[in-house]
Amino acid sequence: MKTLIMAHKVIWTVFFICLILLLFPVGCAPTKESSLGFRIPEGSVEMGKQAFVNLDCIRCHSIAGVTDIDVPVIDRDINIVLGGETTRVKTYGQLVTSVIYPSHIIRPQYRADFVDRDGNSEMPDFTEEMTVKQMIDLVTFLETTYEVKPPPSAYDMAYGEM
Ligand code: HEC
Repeated sequence: MKTLIMAHKVIWTVFFICLILLLFPVGCAPTKESSLGFRIPEGSVEMGKQAFVNLDCIRCHSIAGVTDIDVPVIDRDINIVLGGETTRVKTYGQLVTSVIYPSHIIRPQYRADFVDRDGNSEMPDFTEEMTVKQMIDLVTFLETTYEVKPPPSAYDMAYGEM
């Protein structure tokens, strides 16, 4: 009998804790910085390529596998390759951020060479000259240049089936 009462107590305690956790999801509540609800419309890949040339992104970037842009052959000081294989989906949220707020996300491999003393990216600020349409088209274009490949599984690594 005693154990039955104990069991009841435990069940009720667990139930109440769950209820409280459900009613006050403080930890999961979106903050002001949350990207919840962030959407951009589908742009044009062709116009995106055009913007990539017109805004001079080609001065510092080439794109893996894209050979059909009418890119003038230029001497680049730096060449950061965009696109190509990645193991994680590049979300358009990340791409928009990379374009309009480059100092916010800087991949570790670029930190040593392309960041000034204050920790800012060497990538210029385009927010004055870039139209919103150009940004949408650029992101639509860039999204198509990444190919998501799952990382090799433990099995693949062990048996060489890459
Ligand atoms: C003067 C050189 C320069 C120009 C011009 C430039 N960038 Fe960059 N860009 C960089 C550098 C340096 C980085 C790496 C550091 C960083 O992420 O901020 C970078 C990073 C990026 C990344 C993130 C790459 C990654 O793998 O994380 C994207 C996307 C990008 N640039 C897009 C553009 C677009 C689009 C334009 C044109 C509107 C442009 N960049 C113009 C220098 C430049």
